[in-house]
Amino acid sequence: MSRIEEVRARRIWDSRGRPTVEVEIVTEAGARGRGIAPAGASRGSREAMELRDGGAAFDGKDVKAAIAGIAREIAPALRGREVTEQSAIDAMLIALDGTPDKSRLGGNALIATSLAALHAAASEHGLPLWRYVAGSKDVTLPLPQIQIFGGGAHAQLRVDVQDFMVIATSATSFSQALEMTAEVYLHAGKLMRKRGAAQGVADEGGWWPAFSSNEEALDVLVASIEAAGFVPGTDVGIALDIAASEFGKGGQYTLGLDDVRLDTDAMIEKLLKWIERYPIVSIEDPLSEDDEAGMIAFTRAAGSRLQIVGDDFLVTRAALIEDAAAKGACNAVLIKPNQAGTVTETLAALRAARENGYASIVSARSGETEDVAIVHLATGWNAGQLKVGSFSRSERMAKWNEGIRIEDDGDGPKGFASASVLARS
Ligand code: PGA
Ligand code: ZN
Repeated sequence: MSRIEEVRARRIWDSRGRPTVEVEIVTEAGARGRGIAPAGASRGSREAMELRDGGAAFDGKDVKAAIAGIAREIAPALRGREVTEQSAIDAMLIALDGTPDKSRLGGNALIATSLAALHAAASEHGLPLWRYVAGSKDVTLPLPQIQIFGGGAHAQLRVDVQDFMVIATSATSFSQALEMTAEVYLHAGKLMRKRGAAQGVADEGGWWPAFSSNEEALDVLVASIEAAGFVPGTDVGIALDIAASEFGKGGQYTLGLDDVRLDTDAMIEKLLKWIERYPIVSIEDPLSEDDEAGMIAFTRAAGSRLQIVGDDFLVTRAALIEDAAAKGACNAVLIKPNQAGTVTETLAALRAARENGYASIVSARSGETEDVAIVHLATGWNAGQLKVGSFSRSERMAKWNEGIRIEDDGDGPKGFASASVLARS
């Protein structure tokens, strides 16, 4: 195997037209790998910190300092290192940064570098990324969660709930799950137009939610599933990302659209009513990241019936997952590589989830690019589930289409993670 010869960083632009970091690594043997940092809009406060320049340019979001740090410190430290030694490379990146939240060199600089090394190592072996990370293990294509309406921070809080998604629970292949979702997405658009509620799409490509209540969005979602010819709850289930940290803090939740302020118990009551009334199979961040007692209470009340996912609450950190499992909060975790900051820490979080009986959903961010690495990681790590936003806009479709190519590969994964991967406590 060979050593890293060159590390280059450059500024490129994400799906919101904001600057982001791209890193390219070339080995002595000429293998190349490219990593790109995505960006969240509804971030957990315990995530790895992005390094952004501040100031007037691009609303303070420029990444010149992150790129300079790669050229000045990361590239010299990586040159000459064995490219396949991912955990040693990541340990070096963490030590070089030296802060607990990766704020000195930036989580964006670190994840782009870490992913570039992983890609270069796969290319060095002449393997697609999913196969390289799977090793000789059998793996399956993940079950997708796909957004139909986008709300919360992705649609200027037009509705409180951030993601109204569907899961094609009766699908027996990745491609079929996409076919079914395409029909639901199409019919949701038609229903929106009929109601005079079609106002374009939100940040992740879901229909912009011109509704007068959160329940109206749920009603239209159920109607869209039916209009597409499917039985809600049997063929297609609903998954919600409440992203409650965006409107809740200190045990108080302000639902702007419904014009109410709820305490933790009342918020849980409201969610339990939705579970009774709608075919919901998965709920993410039902309570805010600081409401551990609420998460435990909600998991106790609903965890045997559906999947309860920690995103902002667990921020892809093994230690937080272990702690939550010990306390009985959540039964599944969202896995976002840039929340962790390196590939090795992301994998550690996934392993912690597995060891504690949690389901895992590998996830993209609302600020994305044409990068499709996330689909390879979800597949190769055999994570079971994948979330990359809606069924429109090329930064999303590039990922779904990559899953089709992996599934179509004659030497590819031999199965599909059906609805049995959805967690229950
Ligand atoms: P973000 O949100 O990428 O904007 O942080 C995605 C999510 O909450 O799942
Ligand atoms: Zn989320």
